[in-house]
Amino acid sequence: MSSNSGDSRGLFSGNLGYILAVAGSAVGLGNIWRFPYLTAKYGGGIFLLIYFLLLFTFGYALIMAETSLGRNTRLSPVGAYRTFADKQHSFLKIGGWLNAIVPMIILPYYCLIGGWVIKYMFEYLTGGSASAAADGFFVGFITSNFVPVVWHLLFLGCTAFIILLGVQKGVERASVVMMPILLVLAFVIAVYSMTRPGAGAGIAYYLIPDFSKFSIMTVVAACGQLFFSLSVGMGILITYGSYMKKDVDVEKATIRIGLMDTTVAMLAGFMIIPAVFAFSGGDAAAVNAGPGLMFITLPKVFESMGMGSFIGAAFFIMVFFAALTSSISILETCVSTLTDELKWSRTRATMFMFFEAIALGIPCSLGFGAWDFISIAGLSILDMMDFLASSILCPLCALLTCILISRVVGTQKIVDEIKSTSAFKGEAVFRFCLTYLAPVILLLVLASSVAATLGFIKI
Ligand code: PHE
Repeated sequence: MSSNSGDSRGLFSGNLGYILAVAGSAVGLGNIWRFPYLTAKYGGGIFLLIYFLLLFTFGYALIMAETSLGRNTRLSPVGAYRTFADKQHSFLKIGGWLNAIVPMIILPYYCLIGGWVIKYMFEYLTGGSASAAADGFFVGFITSNFVPVVWHLLFLGCTAFIILLGVQKGVERASVVMMPILLVLAFVIAVYSMTRPGAGAGIAYYLIPDFSKFSIMTVVAACGQLFFSLSVGMGILITYGSYMKKDVDVEKATIRIGLMDTTVAMLAGFMIIPAVFAFSGGDAAAVNAGPGLMFITLPKVFESMGMGSFIGAAFFIMVFFAALTSSISILETCVSTLTDELKWSRTRATMFMFFEAIALGIPCSLGFGAWDFISIAGLSILDMMDFLASSILCPLCALLTCILISRVVGTQKIVDEIKSTSAFKGEAVFRFCLTYLAPVILLLVLASSVAATLGFIKI
């Protein structure tokens, strides 16, 4: 994306260009790393069911709303909110900035996990597949204080370098080749995992909802995952929409992107969750491994597949690319806010974000080592930042966007915007979700997240 304005703003060349750019942003660590560990932690099938219910109703409505708001106004979130925040709704002025802050919170820990991916990639490329699969390897690594920070810097450096050189297009083109390979590889690994002895219990855990495992935190976590994975609730899609040409069918594009994102997440679940059961006998501690789940489970799968080094290396290279296209979109969004609003140069904005991501990334990493005594509601520093972004700020931003559209901009204007290029099959669902369902769910999620932070509900 560039920060061009005026007539040259329409940057994505038609349907395919738009879909690939948004899919590049959406498909990343959120699908492969975050989705499986949350699904495992929050009860498997019941989490999946809630996720799908949310995706088809309010997730769909929010994506459509943000994208069309951007396309209609040709503004980024800060600009769009500022333009519409009239006297009666002056509280909306901060809405734009709240949206803009979310990617700034996500970038540091996203790059830390990206660093873990590079570490594993190197481990596999240098023939360390047996050591990566050994018990204690992952814990030894993340508790080694500044060692993960070095890998974090490497991932962050790659992201910043690409933004500074302005070569995003090249990376996006490379990822067009990488994505299908990742899908095929994930499919093969998933089939292998699912056919291990003992994996059946994992498949059942993943797919069959157990209503006794339901709690309000299941909804909070599923909702946070929806925001994180689809890059929604943080103004990114407003910005992407503002670069979208008028001839793109918003509804079709949204459905395709949602489908792609969900397919990758589901496959990641099939790779990891049955394997957790097969390799640990479904022990509760293994299911609850948290952010480390993928890094603990997959090396064991690769090792048992025989060609561990080769498959492991190929897998982590693909994940690295998927993560990179997402981190580029996160950093680009931050940079475009800073250049548009503070009139900074691109270099200055990139450098600022680079140092911000180091400053906040280091505590995230130390939170697993020397600073592991710091925690709120049982969460590590990384988990706290993630919770703040996806379970508090994203729902708040999404709520403000719903208010902005239904009270100020007018839902009709958004519907007209979508209909200006294509039919709008989901119009009724869209109107209902945006005006009634989404605000209610968002308020519920926000209240629960705050209650959980204060220790009233167990996260
Ligand atoms: N959606 C991306 C993923 O699933 C992460 C992301 C978050 C991208 C926020 C942009 C903004 O990995």
